Amino acid sequence: MDATSNSETPKDTLYDEINTFFESAPPLKDGPDISRKLKEFIERNSQSTGGRGASRVVCVTSGGTTVPLEKRCVRYIDNFSSGHRGAASTEYFLKAGYSVIFLSRRGTCQPFCRSLPEDPLLECFEVSKELNVRVCQSHSEAVRTAIGEHCAAVEGGLLLKLPFTTIFEYLQILQLIAMSMKNLGTHAMFYLAAAVSDFYVPWKSMVEHKIQSSSGPLDMRLVQVPKMLSVLRKDWAPVAFCISFKLETDSKILLEKAEIALKKYNMHAVVANELLTRKEVVVVVTSSEKISVHRDKTEASADVESPLIELLAEKHSSYIEHLDS
Ligand code: PMT
Repeated sequence: MDATSNSETPKDTLYDEINTFFESAPPLKDGPDISRKLKEFIERNSQSTGGRGASRVVCVTSGGTTVPLEKRCVRYIDNFSSGHRGAASTEYFLKAGYSVIFLSRRGTCQPFCRSLPEDPLLECFEVSKELNVRVCQSHSEAVRTAIGEHCAAVEGGLLLKLPFTTIFEYLQILQLIAMSMKNLGTHAMFYLAAAVSDFYVPWKSMVEHKIQSSSGPLDMRLVQVPKMLSVLRKDWAPVAFCISFKLETDSKILLEKAEIALKKYNMHAVVANELLTRKEVVVVVTSSEKISVHRDKTEASADVESPLIELLAEKHSSYIEHLDS
Protein backbone atom coordinates (compact mmCIF):
# COMPACT_ATOMS: atom_id res chain seq x y z
CA MET A 1 0.00 0.00 0.00
CA ASP A 2 1.22 3.52 -0.56
CA ALA A 3 -0.05 6.79 0.77
CA THR A 4 -0.25 10.30 -0.63
CA SER A 5 1.57 12.54 1.82
CA ASN A 6 1.31 16.30 2.23
CA SER A 7 2.45 17.29 5.70
CA GLU A 8 2.72 21.01 4.76
CA THR A 9 -0.77 21.56 3.39
CA PRO A 10 -1.44 25.17 2.31
CA LYS A 11 -4.69 26.64 3.71
CA ASP A 12 -6.79 26.50 0.51
CA THR A 13 -5.67 22.96 -0.23
CA LEU A 14 -6.68 21.94 3.31
CA TYR A 15 -10.19 23.36 2.81
CA ASP A 16 -10.42 21.57 -0.58
CA GLU A 17 -9.37 18.31 1.07
CA ILE A 18 -11.90 18.79 3.87
CA ASN A 19 -14.69 19.51 1.38
CA THR A 20 -13.73 16.47 -0.66
CA PHE A 21 -13.69 14.33 2.48
CA PHE A 22 -17.19 15.39 3.59
CA GLU A 23 -18.72 15.42 0.10
CA SER A 24 -17.52 11.91 -0.64
CA ALA A 25 -18.31 10.43 2.80
CA PRO A 26 -21.34 8.11 3.05
CA PRO A 27 -24.12 10.08 4.82
CA LEU A 28 -24.57 9.36 8.53
CA LYS A 29 -27.41 6.84 8.98
CA ASP A 30 -28.72 8.52 12.12
CA GLY A 31 -27.64 12.14 11.43
CA PRO A 32 -31.02 13.80 12.23
CA ASP A 33 -31.34 11.78 15.45
CA ILE A 34 -27.81 12.77 16.57
CA SER A 35 -28.52 16.45 15.79
CA ARG A 36 -31.75 16.32 17.83
CA LYS A 37 -30.00 14.71 20.83
CA LEU A 38 -27.21 17.30 20.65
CA LYS A 39 -29.65 20.21 20.44
CA GLU A 40 -31.56 18.98 23.51
CA PHE A 41 -28.36 18.28 25.45
CA ILE A 42 -26.83 21.69 24.73
CA GLU A 43 -30.08 23.53 25.47
CA ARG A 44 -30.36 21.77 28.83
CA ASN A 45 -26.72 22.42 29.70
CA SER A 46 -26.38 25.99 28.48
CA GLN A 47 -28.73 27.26 31.18
CA SER A 48 -27.05 28.87 34.17
CA THR A 49 -26.56 26.46 37.08
CA GLY A 50 -27.69 28.49 40.08
CA GLY A 51 -24.82 30.18 41.90
CA ARG A 52 -22.18 28.22 39.94
CA GLY A 53 -22.59 30.30 36.75
CA ALA A 54 -22.97 28.90 33.24
CA SER A 55 -22.23 25.20 32.93
CA ARG A 56 -19.22 23.85 31.12
CA VAL A 57 -19.51 21.20 28.46
CA VAL A 58 -16.65 19.01 27.26
CA CYS A 59 -16.58 16.81 24.19
CA VAL A 60 -14.39 13.78 24.96
CA THR A 61 -13.38 11.66 21.96
CA SER A 62 -12.24 8.13 22.65
CA GLY A 63 -11.14 4.94 20.88
CA GLY A 64 -9.72 4.42 17.39
CA THR A 65 -11.37 5.10 14.04
CA THR A 66 -11.50 2.41 11.35
CA VAL A 67 -10.84 2.81 7.63
CA PRO A 68 -13.03 0.47 5.58
CA LEU A 69 -11.43 -1.12 2.52
CA GLU A 70 -14.73 -2.22 0.94
CA LYS A 71 -18.17 -0.52 0.89
CA ARG A 72 -19.79 -3.75 2.09
CA CYS A 73 -17.06 -3.84 4.66
CA VAL A 74 -15.35 -7.12 5.52
CA ARG A 75 -11.85 -5.73 5.99
CA TYR A 76 -10.70 -2.50 7.58
CA ILE A 77 -7.58 -0.78 8.94
CA ASP A 78 -7.83 -0.06 12.65
CA ASN A 79 -6.17 2.39 15.03
CA PHE A 80 -4.96 1.38 18.46
CA SER A 81 -6.92 2.68 21.47
CA SER A 82 -8.71 0.74 24.20
CA GLY A 83 -10.81 3.79 25.12
CA HIS A 84 -9.59 3.67 28.74
CA ARG A 85 -8.24 7.25 28.65
CA GLY A 86 -11.51 8.68 27.31
CA ALA A 87 -13.74 6.66 29.67
CA ALA A 88 -11.70 7.48 32.79
CA SER A 89 -11.42 11.16 31.81
CA THR A 90 -15.20 11.36 31.34
CA GLU A 91 -15.74 10.17 34.91
CA TYR A 92 -13.34 12.81 36.27
CA PHE A 93 -14.84 15.59 34.11
CA LEU A 94 -18.29 14.74 35.51
CA LYS A 95 -16.85 14.87 39.05
CA ALA A 96 -15.32 18.27 38.23
CA GLY A 97 -18.80 19.60 37.33
CA TYR A 98 -18.65 19.33 33.53
CA SER A 99 -21.38 17.92 31.30
CA VAL A 100 -19.84 15.46 28.84
CA ILE A 101 -20.49 14.53 25.22
CA PHE A 102 -18.69 11.19 24.96
CA LEU A 103 -17.90 10.37 21.31
CA SER A 104 -16.50 6.85 21.44
CA ARG A 105 -15.70 3.89 19.25
CA ARG A 106 -18.34 1.14 19.51
CA GLY A 107 -17.15 -1.70 21.75
CA THR A 108 -14.39 0.24 23.56
CA CYS A 109 -14.18 1.04 27.27
CA GLN A 110 -17.17 3.02 28.62
CA PRO A 111 -17.42 5.39 31.60
CA PHE A 112 -18.20 3.68 34.97
CA CYS A 113 -17.50 0.19 33.57
CA ARG A 114 -13.78 0.14 34.33
CA SER A 115 -14.07 -1.77 37.61
CA LEU A 116 -16.30 -4.48 36.09
CA PRO A 117 -14.93 -7.75 34.64
CA GLU A 118 -14.37 -8.00 30.89
CA ASP A 119 -17.69 -9.75 30.22
CA PRO A 120 -19.91 -8.17 32.91
CA LEU A 121 -23.20 -9.70 31.73
CA LEU A 122 -21.93 -13.27 32.06
CA GLU A 123 -19.56 -12.76 34.99
CA CYS A 124 -21.54 -10.44 37.29
CA PHE A 125 -24.90 -12.22 37.18
CA GLU A 126 -26.15 -15.72 38.06
CA VAL A 127 -29.42 -17.57 37.59
CA SER A 128 -31.15 -19.19 40.59
CA LYS A 129 -32.96 -22.56 40.54
CA GLU A 130 -36.21 -20.60 40.04
CA LEU A 131 -34.61 -18.97 36.97
CA ASN A 132 -34.38 -15.54 38.61
CA VAL A 133 -31.38 -13.44 37.53
CA ARG A 134 -29.40 -11.88 40.38
CA VAL A 135 -26.05 -10.14 40.87
CA CYS A 136 -23.22 -12.41 42.12
CA GLN A 137 -22.22 -11.53 45.67
CA SER A 138 -18.58 -10.95 44.69
CA HIS A 139 -19.46 -8.25 42.13
CA SER A 140 -22.52 -6.68 43.77
CA GLU A 141 -20.72 -3.57 45.06
CA ALA A 142 -19.01 -2.84 41.70
CA VAL A 143 -22.25 -3.40 39.74
CA ARG A 144 -24.30 -1.20 42.08
CA THR A 145 -21.74 1.64 41.86
CA ALA A 146 -21.39 1.39 38.07
CA ILE A 147 -25.16 1.34 37.39
CA GLY A 148 -25.87 4.03 40.01
CA GLU A 149 -23.24 6.49 38.74
CA HIS A 150 -24.06 5.85 35.07
CA CYS A 151 -27.83 6.35 35.61
CA ALA A 152 -27.23 9.52 37.64
CA ALA A 153 -25.11 11.02 34.83
CA VAL A 154 -27.39 10.00 31.92
CA GLU A 155 -30.75 10.63 33.61
CA GLY A 156 -29.45 13.90 35.09
CA GLY A 157 -28.77 15.03 31.50
CA LEU A 158 -25.02 15.36 32.16
CA LEU A 159 -23.72 12.61 29.89
CA LEU A 160 -24.53 12.10 26.20
CA LYS A 161 -22.94 9.05 24.59
CA LEU A 162 -22.52 8.98 20.80
CA PRO A 163 -20.86 5.96 19.12
CA PHE A 164 -18.78 5.80 15.92
CA THR A 165 -16.90 3.10 14.06
CA THR A 166 -15.41 4.54 10.86
CA ILE A 167 -13.35 7.66 10.21
CA PHE A 168 -16.31 8.93 8.12
CA GLU A 169 -18.71 8.67 11.08
CA TYR A 170 -16.19 10.12 13.54
CA LEU A 171 -15.44 13.31 11.61
CA GLN A 172 -19.05 13.93 10.60
CA ILE A 173 -20.27 13.56 14.19
CA LEU A 174 -17.37 15.68 15.53
CA GLN A 175 -18.44 18.45 13.15
CA LEU A 176 -22.08 18.22 14.34
CA ILE A 177 -20.92 18.36 17.97
CA ALA A 178 -18.63 21.34 17.34
CA MET A 179 -21.34 23.32 15.54
CA SER A 180 -23.84 22.59 18.31
CA MET A 181 -21.33 23.69 20.99
CA LYS A 182 -20.45 26.96 19.25
CA ASN A 183 -22.92 29.00 21.32
CA LEU A 184 -21.31 27.84 24.57
CA GLY A 185 -18.37 30.09 23.74
CA THR A 186 -15.46 29.80 26.16
CA HIS A 187 -17.39 27.32 28.34
CA ALA A 188 -16.94 24.61 25.68
CA MET A 189 -13.94 22.28 25.78
CA PHE A 190 -12.68 19.68 23.30
CA TYR A 191 -10.57 16.83 24.71
CA LEU A 192 -9.49 14.88 21.63
CA ALA A 193 -8.13 11.58 22.95
CA ALA A 194 -9.38 9.44 20.03
CA ALA A 195 -6.77 7.79 17.83
CA VAL A 196 -7.80 9.13 14.43
CA SER A 197 -6.76 7.46 11.17
CA ASP A 198 -4.20 9.37 9.13
CA PHE A 199 -4.94 7.68 5.79
CA TYR A 200 -8.19 6.51 4.20
CA VAL A 201 -9.73 5.12 1.05
CA PRO A 202 -12.16 7.72 -0.41
CA TRP A 203 -15.68 6.31 -0.58
CA LYS A 204 -16.00 6.96 -4.32
CA SER A 205 -12.89 4.97 -5.17
CA MET A 206 -13.70 2.11 -2.77
CA VAL A 207 -14.74 -1.26 -4.23
CA GLU A 208 -18.29 -2.41 -3.45
CA HIS A 209 -17.65 -6.08 -2.67
CA LYS A 210 -15.17 -8.09 -0.64
CA ILE A 211 -11.67 -7.87 -2.14
CA GLN A 212 -10.78 -11.28 -3.57
CA SER A 213 -7.56 -12.83 -2.28
CA SER A 214 -7.32 -14.83 -5.51
CA SER A 215 -6.54 -11.56 -7.35
CA GLY A 216 -3.00 -11.67 -5.89
CA PRO A 217 -1.11 -9.08 -3.77
CA LEU A 218 -3.12 -6.02 -2.78
CA ASP A 219 -2.00 -2.68 -4.20
CA MET A 220 -4.09 0.16 -2.81
CA ARG A 221 -3.73 3.95 -2.75
CA LEU A 222 -4.61 5.68 0.52
CA VAL A 223 -5.27 9.42 0.74
CA GLN A 224 -4.28 11.55 3.72
CA VAL A 225 -7.14 12.31 6.14
CA PRO A 226 -7.29 16.12 6.43
CA LYS A 227 -6.34 17.23 9.96
CA MET A 228 -9.57 18.67 11.27
CA LEU A 229 -7.86 20.24 14.29
CA SER A 230 -7.14 23.51 12.43
CA VAL A 231 -10.65 23.83 11.07
CA LEU A 232 -12.13 22.97 14.48
CA ARG A 233 -10.14 25.84 16.04
CA LYS A 234 -10.71 28.34 13.22
CA ASP A 235 -14.25 27.70 12.07
CA TRP A 236 -16.23 25.09 13.97
CA ALA A 237 -15.69 26.28 17.55
CA PRO A 238 -13.30 29.26 17.48
CA VAL A 239 -13.44 30.19 21.18
CA ALA A 240 -13.69 26.72 22.69
CA PHE A 241 -10.79 25.48 24.84
CA CYS A 242 -9.07 22.79 22.74
CA ILE A 243 -6.84 19.97 23.91
CA SER A 244 -5.37 17.43 21.54
CA PHE A 245 -3.15 14.42 22.24
CA LYS A 246 0.18 13.28 20.89
CA LEU A 247 1.06 9.61 21.09
CA GLU A 248 4.54 8.32 20.27
CA THR A 249 6.45 5.13 20.98
CA ASP A 250 9.83 6.91 20.95
CA SER A 251 10.22 9.14 24.03
CA LYS A 252 13.03 11.10 22.32
CA ILE A 253 10.69 12.75 19.81
CA LEU A 254 7.51 12.97 21.92
CA LEU A 255 7.79 16.46 23.41
CA GLU A 256 9.14 17.99 20.23
CA LYS A 257 6.20 16.56 18.25
CA ALA A 258 3.73 17.78 20.89
CA GLU A 259 5.16 21.32 20.65
CA ILE A 260 4.92 21.27 16.87
CA ALA A 261 1.26 20.16 17.09
CA LEU A 262 0.51 22.86 19.68
CA LYS A 263 1.73 25.60 17.35
CA LYS A 264 0.60 24.13 14.05
CA TYR A 265 -3.01 23.53 15.12
CA ASN A 266 -3.17 26.43 17.57
CA MET A 267 -4.22 24.17 20.45
CA HIS A 268 -4.49 25.47 24.03
CA ALA A 269 -2.72 22.35 25.30
CA VAL A 270 -1.37 19.09 23.94
CA VAL A 271 -1.27 16.03 26.19
CA ALA A 272 1.86 14.08 25.27
CA ASN A 273 1.99 10.38 26.11
CA GLU A 274 4.13 7.40 25.36
CA LEU A 275 2.48 4.09 24.52
CA LEU A 276 4.09 2.00 27.28
CA THR A 277 3.80 4.51 30.13
CA ARG A 278 0.52 6.21 29.16
CA LYS A 279 -1.30 5.02 32.31
CA GLU A 280 1.48 6.26 34.61
CA VAL A 281 2.51 9.66 33.27
CA VAL A 282 1.52 12.28 30.70
CA VAL A 283 3.01 15.71 29.95
CA VAL A 284 0.71 18.69 29.43
CA VAL A 285 2.40 20.98 26.90
CA THR A 286 1.22 24.60 26.63
CA SER A 287 2.82 27.66 25.01
CA SER A 288 4.49 28.60 28.32
CA GLU A 289 5.21 25.32 30.16
CA LYS A 290 5.49 21.55 30.19
CA ILE A 291 3.89 19.92 33.22
CA SER A 292 4.44 16.23 34.02
CA VAL A 293 1.37 14.63 35.56
CA HIS A 294 1.87 11.34 37.42
CA ARG A 295 -0.51 8.71 38.74
CA ASP A 296 -0.54 8.59 42.53
CA LYS A 297 1.38 5.32 43.07
CA THR A 298 0.48 5.10 46.76
CA GLU A 299 -3.11 4.28 45.81
CA ALA A 300 -3.69 1.12 43.77
CA SER A 301 -6.90 2.35 42.15
CA ALA A 302 -5.59 5.86 41.36
CA ASP A 303 -5.67 7.01 37.73
CA VAL A 304 -3.40 9.51 36.00
CA GLU A 305 -6.62 11.03 34.62
CA SER A 306 -7.56 12.30 38.10
CA PRO A 307 -4.74 14.92 38.43
CA LEU A 308 -4.80 15.47 34.64
CA ILE A 309 -8.46 16.57 34.55
CA GLU A 310 -7.96 18.67 37.70
CA LEU A 311 -5.12 20.53 35.96
CA LEU A 312 -7.00 20.99 32.68
CA ALA A 313 -10.13 22.23 34.47
CA GLU A 314 -7.94 24.85 36.23
CA LYS A 315 -6.41 25.91 32.91
CA HIS A 316 -9.90 26.13 31.41
CA SER A 317 -11.02 28.39 34.32
CA SER A 318 -8.10 30.77 33.72
CA TYR A 319 -8.91 30.79 30.00
CA ILE A 320 -12.59 31.67 30.68
CA GLU A 321 -11.60 34.41 33.16
CA HIS A 322 -9.06 35.87 30.75
CA LEU A 323 -11.34 35.91 27.69
CA ASP A 324 -14.62 36.85 29.41
CA SER A 325 -13.20 39.68 31.57
O1 PMT B 1 -7.38 4.49 24.68
P1 PMT B 1 -6.18 4.11 25.52
O2 PMT B 1 -5.75 2.69 25.27
O3 PMT B 1 -6.37 4.44 26.98
O4 PMT B 1 -4.95 5.01 24.99
C1 PMT B 1 -5.04 6.40 25.03
C2 PMT B 1 -4.35 7.05 23.81
C3 PMT B 1 -2.88 6.66 23.81
C4 PMT B 1 -5.02 6.57 22.50
C5 PMT B 1 -4.55 8.61 23.97
O5 PMT B 1 -3.97 9.03 25.18
C6 PMT B 1 -3.91 9.37 22.80
O6 PMT B 1 -2.75 9.69 22.79
N1 PMT B 1 -4.75 9.67 21.74
C7 PMT B 1 -4.30 10.32 20.48
C8 PMT B 1 -3.60 9.27 19.64
C9 PMT B 1 -3.23 9.78 18.27
O7 PMT B 1 -3.86 9.42 17.31
O8 PMT B 1 -2.26 10.65 18.20
P2 PMT B 1 -1.78 11.36 16.82
O9 PMT B 1 -0.46 11.89 17.09
O10 PMT B 1 -1.92 10.42 15.65
O11 PMT B 1 -2.87 12.51 16.61
C10 PMT B 1 -2.76 13.75 17.30
C11 PMT B 1 -4.10 14.46 17.40
O12 PMT B 1 -4.59 14.79 16.11
C12 PMT B 1 -5.16 13.66 18.13
O13 PMT B 1 -5.75 14.51 19.13
C13 PMT B 1 -6.18 13.31 17.03
O14 PMT B 1 -7.52 13.37 17.57
C14 PMT B 1 -5.94 14.40 15.97
N2 PMT B 1 -6.08 13.96 14.57
C15 PMT B 1 -5.33 12.94 14.10
C16 PMT B 1 -5.43 12.57 12.76
C17 PMT B 1 -6.33 13.28 11.92
N3 PMT B 1 -6.45 12.98 10.64
N4 PMT B 1 -7.07 14.28 12.42
C18 PMT B 1 -6.95 14.64 13.73
O15 PMT B 1 -7.64 15.57 14.15
